[in-house]
Amino acid sequence: MKNWWKEAVVYQIYPRSFQDTNGDGIGDINGITSKLDYLKELGVDVIWLCPIYKSLDADNGYDISNYTEIDKKYGTMEDFEKLLKEVHKRKMKIIMDAVLNHTSDEHPWFVESRKSKTNKYRNFYLWKPAKNGAEPNNWRSHFGGSAWEYDGQTGEYYLHIWDKKQPDLNWDNKEMRTEIYKMLKWWLDKGIDGFRLDVINFISKENSFPDAEASGEKYASGDKYYVNGPKVNDYLKEMNLEVFSKYDILIVGETAATFKDVNVIGQYVNSKNQELQMVFHENNEILGPEPRKLGATYLERKFNRLNWNLIDMKTNFTAWQWTLREGCWDTVYLGNHDYPRMVSRFGDDKKYRVESAKMLATLLFTLGGTQYIYQGDEIGMTNADFKSIIDYRDVAAVNMYNEYVKNHTEKETLDLLVQVSRDNARTPMQWDDGKNAGFTEGTPWIMINGNYKEINVKKSLEDKNSIFYYYQTLIQMRKTNEIFVYGDYDLLLDKDTKIYAYTRKLNGEILLSVLNFSSESVEFELPSEITYTEETLLIGNYEGGKGSARKFQLKPYEARVYRLKI
Ligand code: GLC
Ligand code: CA
Repeated sequence: MKNWWKEAVVYQIYPRSFQDTNGDGIGDINGITSKLDYLKELGVDVIWLCPIYKSLDADNGYDISNYTEIDKKYGTMEDFEKLLKEVHKRKMKIIMDAVLNHTSDEHPWFVESRKSKTNKYRNFYLWKPAKNGAEPNNWRSHFGGSAWEYDGQTGEYYLHIWDKKQPDLNWDNKEMRTEIYKMLKWWLDKGIDGFRLDVINFISKENSFPDAEASGEKYASGDKYYVNGPKVNDYLKEMNLEVFSKYDILIVGETAATFKDVNVIGQYVNSKNQELQMVFHENNEILGPEPRKLGATYLERKFNRLNWNLIDMKTNFTAWQWTLREGCWDTVYLGNHDYPRMVSRFGDDKKYRVESAKMLATLLFTLGGTQYIYQGDEIGMTNADFKSIIDYRDVAAVNMYNEYVKNHTEKETLDLLVQVSRDNARTPMQWDDGKNAGFTEGTPWIMINGNYKEINVKKSLEDKNSIFYYYQTLIQMRKTNEIFVYGDYDLLLDKDTKIYAYTRKLNGEILLSVLNFSSESVEFELPSEITYTEETLLIGNYEGGKGSARKFQLKPYEARVYRLKI
């Protein structure tokens, strides 16, 4: 079935790093409003805003202390309403990040909850007594250390899968769920166009809270007991029925730590189930050897994922592309605020930065699913050039550093961190080659990438061959050719370790994408069983691509898309 949200291109904004307008070094809502024409020019339809609610920033806004208040550092509710109006005026939409697995420990619900065992809000969270004088079980927080925090006031522990300032909500409590649904409706009634649901597949916990299997370490991953937990699908169906189904909106969930469970995750997004429309299933994040190894920490898993290979990537994408034929929908993305920069990870951020960034964009826009562009990727922004631990801001990076440096040298620790840290994607947007890359008049909250004189929006807009215009062209193509959105996917050359090639088929036409993921020149030959009568080269990232679609030579990181008439 056709839907506007299947045809939409979404642009993710990390507000803190987008555009500052009052010189405090932190991006703000008015900064976003001032850049709407830029986003319109790029051609995006929907903006996804990372959290801008009141927060103590233990995890950069993912620890919310008031769901219906805008944090002062981002502006006011009036600023937000103006932004919403300006977005709608330009025929774009806005979706907000909804963090429903946990709140801040300074949220009024939690403040009440910790007061006494009989408090009305006690059951909004997960409180447990000590077991043998210690934590209720051995689960480890995704940010390191125990997932339980002792609270002296009532002598019990509360669960926090993330930071200790992010207590987990108790989804088995109907009253709590009702409050959440009320809050979601409040935003939708204000006129926003949907939500991105943060770690939504963690909301239901195995309520016997068993110990996790450990490999001699004190704390171990309890993922098995809450990732896609026992009642998650029931709660999503309920939320859909009570909230989402009443509006014409976009709903995308984040299903973290899901690994290769296509069948499990597919259930969330199968239209017959009425749960979510699409999810970020981390099919790219999981690339690399055995990320599930016992005892692996959040960032160790990220390290593993640096050793990805193309076969693995093709297998993952292909498995998900196939679910589209079975009534599921998908997201297509190669980065966000939790990953290193996509060109640094999957391309070459030095010699072939421009070519490889365009090649990766070609992949994004010619796969089935809704596209998500992370801010700055449209100009080919790269990983940061952090030199010391004081350059980092992310709680995950700092905790990781402290843990890792115990058994490794400072240099080893920093060398790894600089490749995998989430802060890589959180450095300020590079608007121009002036002071602080045009991001702020003050001192930026996090270091600006030293390459901003070379890589910035101003330069991209002046160069007709820039990555920016390549994105623009792809977006336009997708909007005017249904085959980009609804064509059936098939993988070609599954064993090729350098070329990723696939077709999309619709109404007697084939869209053929051929992507060279290597810095070498390689030959492509179309399998003989694919026959056609007419061919057109729709787009490519090198000028004057020669040769017919049957057989041609690909330059380093070259990408080509042909339209074939059967
Ligand atoms: C999601 C967010 C991430 C955050 C975590 C806890 O994974 O994308 O930034 O740290 O949830 O809320
Ligand atoms: Ca500001």
